[in-house]
Amino acid sequence: ARLVVLVSGSGTNLQALLDAIAADPDGYGARIVAVGADRDGIAGLERAEKAGLSTFVCRVKDHPTRDAWDLALAEATAAYDPDLVVSAGFMKIVGKHFLARFGGKVVNTHPALLPSFPGAHGVRDALAYGAKVTGCTVHFVDDGVDTGPIIAQGVVEVRADDTEDALHERIKEVERRLLVDVVGRLARDGYRIEGRKVLLP
Ligand code: GRF
Repeated sequence: ARLVVLVSGSGTNLQALLDAIAADPDGYGARIVAVGADRDGIAGLERAEKAGLSTFVCRVKDHPTRDAWDLALAEATAAYDPDLVVSAGFMKIVGKHFLARFGGKVVNTHPALLPSFPGAHGVRDALAYGAKVTGCTVHFVDDGVDTGPIIAQGVVEVRADDTEDALHERIKEVERRLLVDVVGRLARDGYRIEGRKVLLP
């Protein structure tokens, strides 16, 4: 399967996918054909370039409207003809043009146990709320914010002395393994989405 990975930051989830593919290029069942970002100058793009991958940057401020950006992102992504799009720390909400093209094929990873703590500050919100456990969720993207059908989740204990960063780093350890496992299975074995259920063979 052909993967396009979308990033906005350090790209450690991208790196986990790159490492898994490099470790078993035939067995993993997928390869990354391009990495897209919503901003320049991020480690995620450096990781992609170091791996010899094509990259593209689609910045909201380069477009007259958000809708125009969404269309540009869809077209830039479509140029690589992906079977799956993996949003790995991509900090923008894709819109109707993107979903018209790739709906049902966009996988996102979120650092909280959805439906708890959706949005851009899931780790901070769980900590502030006093949750005793949190974790990460890999789900398909729908037209909401972190509301699509859940594929897999991983649980992480919250410690009394946790800072947001410390907790997020522990979550990311689980998240990277979960994402690598899920993407490989979707790519190799296929899947069906029925309402809110994701059916894996
Ligand atoms: C991940 O925890 C992701 O869920 C969240 O931001 C983090 C991105 O990490 N949205 P990285 O860029 O993959 O290192």
